[in-house]
Amino acid sequence: MAENATLTIGNTSYDLQVIKGTTGPDVIDVRKLYDESGVFTFDPGFTSTASCESKITYIDGDAGVLLHRGYPIEQLAYNSSFLEVCYLLLNGELPTAAEFADFDKTITYHTMLHAQFDRFFSGFRSDAHPMAIMTGAVGALSAFYHDSINVDDPEQRKISAHRLIAKMPTIAARAYKYSVGQPFVTPRNDLSYAENFLRMAFSVPAEDWRPNPVLTRAMDRIFILHADHEQNASTSTVRLAGSSGANPFACIAAGIACLWGPSHGGANEEALMMLREIGTVDRIPEYVQGVKDRKYRLMGFGHRVYKNYDPRAKVMQETCHEVLKEVGDPDDPLLKVAMELEKIALNDEYFVERKLYPNVDFYSGITLKAMGFPTTMFTALFALARTVGWISQWKEMFEDPRRKIGRPRQLYNGPLQRDYVAIDKRG
Ligand code: ACO
Repeated sequence: MAENATLTIGNTSYDLQVIKGTTGPDVIDVRKLYDESGVFTFDPGFTSTASCESKITYIDGDAGVLLHRGYPIEQLAYNSSFLEVCYLLLNGELPTAAEFADFDKTITYHTMLHAQFDRFFSGFRSDAHPMAIMTGAVGALSAFYHDSINVDDPEQRKISAHRLIAKMPTIAARAYKYSVGQPFVTPRNDLSYAENFLRMAFSVPAEDWRPNPVLTRAMDRIFILHADHEQNASTSTVRLAGSSGANPFACIAAGIACLWGPSHGGANEEALMMLREIGTVDRIPEYVQGVKDRKYRLMGFGHRVYKNYDPRAKVMQETCHEVLKEVGDPDDPLLKVAMELEKIALNDEYFVERKLYPNVDFYSGITLKAMGFPTTMFTALFALARTVGWISQWKEMFEDPRRKIGRPRQLYNGPLQRDYVAIDKRG
């Protein structure tokens, strides 16, 4: 039986339907509230507002659980591959062997960019941040692939999703190559998704590039860990941009712009800079005191939804150790600082009280640095991996017949109506 909630304003009561999902908090349906009562709800930061209905990803922040289409992130990270997770997010089910072979081939055969697109990169200054290049380049895809921007055609939506997943590694690798002044590397169809990306990033004409299975696996796992995270800031940006009917490439460019911020995807870059700034274990207490004095935040710590250990951070920490054992220095001073900082913070009252745990960004920076990526590439890699989540959420929005343009309301606190005063009569 459907439950109702009652809202009383003055002498009038309004019945609001309570809707249950398969799991997670119930929601109070306020869609007709304004029509019936003339009031809005007020929730800046969306801390209590479900902006959409979704079947893709579920997070239980208190329990530290993350599920994609019902499958725990740990099981996917250890047993699946990024491309299989892409298929799952986009289509709702794990693929059969034949479906996977077909999907793998489709993505592989879409990795090349239009030859004219390469000229686009040279318009940027050589010291441009890769995220600036990514935002511009991904938005520009709509100027190159006109045949897949009709958002009302499911087939075109599918093709644009495949194009985005396939071309992001090529664009991200080019953004990196451009920033270091090295020639672009063409994708190769005989390599896996992660291998292909690593080769496009690190191969140079003067030296053969050899795959390293530990690094390939780490790259693939990092992509899986960042693939989707339900209605976070960048995903909500993609959905909001898409709600107006904007083309998918423009919507993903909007998501990339949002991801760039230090409170979101930019945190991995900031977390590594923080570890560098601390430098040595003996400086941690002084740094932690600065956090408590609210001079700065501990980057890579805290999350709007997780009030427990981020399950992605656990896998990331393990991957970090594997990578450092393979190519880095397991005694890397930054790793020592990270582990000690984590230990101190997890036991310190300030952090315990506020339920501040390491998030996925805390260990990803050290791992990516050991793999050879400069800090400026960290968020670009996040954008590459999150593209599948963004486009799956965007696709889901279009498949919902109740889709409406996103249009939040406001609590207006500005001046009341007043008359214009000519400039010579002011003040
Ligand atoms: N370091 C120190 N204190 C913190 C931190 C932190 N990283 N995060 C939150 N707090 C404190 C706040 O000062 C506040 O304390 P108060 O109640 O005494 O004022 C309390 O914890 C709650 O903080 P809010 O800002 O209200 O929490 P919110 O849910 O809005 O913020 C956020 C989440 C933005 C992620 C925050 O924890 C943060 O800034 N973390 C650092 C940046 C970061 O790592 N971002 C990555 C997020 S994960 C991702 O995008 C993949």
